[in-house]
Amino acid sequence: MYSHVGENVGVSALVEDGDLHLKVGDTQVNIAAIWLRDSCPCPESRAENGQKLFNIVDLPSNARVERAQVVGRSIEVEFAPDGHRGVFDIEALITAGTPPDLADARNEKAKRLWRLAAEVPPVWNDWTGYLADPAPALRAVVDFGFALLRGVPTELGQVVAVAETFGFVRKTNYGTSFDVRVEENPVNLAFTGLAISPHTDNPYRDPVPTLQLLHCIHNATTGGESGLVDGFAAAELLRENNPRAFDILTSTPVTFRFDSADAHLSAIMPMIGLDPSGRVREIRFNNRSMVAPRLEPGPAREFYSAYRTFAELLYSPEAQLNFQLDAGDCLIFDNTRLLHARTAFAATGGRHLQGAYADLDGLLSALQTFEEIW
Ligand code: OGA
Ligand code: ZN
Repeated sequence: MYSHVGENVGVSALVEDGDLHLKVGDTQVNIAAIWLRDSCPCPESRAENGQKLFNIVDLPSNARVERAQVVGRSIEVEFAPDGHRGVFDIEALITAGTPPDLADARNEKAKRLWRLAAEVPPVWNDWTGYLADPAPALRAVVDFGFALLRGVPTELGQVVAVAETFGFVRKTNYGTSFDVRVEENPVNLAFTGLAISPHTDNPYRDPVPTLQLLHCIHNATTGGESGLVDGFAAAELLRENNPRAFDILTSTPVTFRFDSADAHLSAIMPMIGLDPSGRVREIRFNNRSMVAPRLEPGPAREFYSAYRTFAELLYSPEAQLNFQLDAGDCLIFDNTRLLHARTAFAATGGRHLQGAYADLDGLLSALQTFEEIW
């Protein structure tokens, strides 16, 4: 039975079976008593910093709304059986009903996917302009997966300073930063003049570095062109064209591995990682560090066919954005989404990039702060 407990301009509150039902204009919002109790903003429930002061087991399991009254833009609630009281902002109650996956800036839904390189708008940012307002470049990393800064000082170690404009460097066995140039005894093909096909970095790490930076110190060689591909767009296309292949790549665990004298790293993940709502959230693709999965012949054939189909999409020339990094250019990209590549180059030209890893959580946090300021 409904009991009419409160009314205000356009908002009415009803309690039924101990739960709260708000009517806001034509919209009906149904709120479970236990959720409301768990979300209580009163000083007994929350510290001044907003953090919760209680645990789920501290709440009565049979919590229900005893009374509710609309007062202005708020609603005053009294709970049973313990008589707890709280005042809730009506607007906040309505907003909290937005499906949680829409709020995740990391999955495909939050992105501006590009299937063709031609769809990417110019995302070059001049270093001094970037320092004055980093928000547009960081926004481009979130939306398109990358930003390119130009005119960054070509001092060694500068890549760390770039990462520190928006977050924190992720130090790895390659160092705080690492040099990408031709080496005598390379532990990684990145440190040769060979071409590298589109890949994500360090898929053998868990957690994987979610951002990568590549800063060009010197590039007086022929070749060594850079390429970027949108892995989320390719996954979306795969799902459209070949749902079976998509299912195989989202559900088959693949081992990625790296070994050197001082590092033994491995992670077991699907190539296409989904979030709980089934949306694409993380691509791991690296032919150099993937261990061929030892499946029974039937599943192996299916896996390899799906892998090949995905690779063909990723390697499609129209999907790849190509450009030459010049001295002073610094690329920042989402290593969970974009694949990067380079063409072969002559060792004599002395091509030298410095790289570093960082993470998207820090960048998203900085972006929110910067967007509030500007
Ligand atoms: C890397 C890499 C690309 C390049 O270091 O991870 O892929 O342009 N380098 O040298
Ligand atoms: Zn790489």
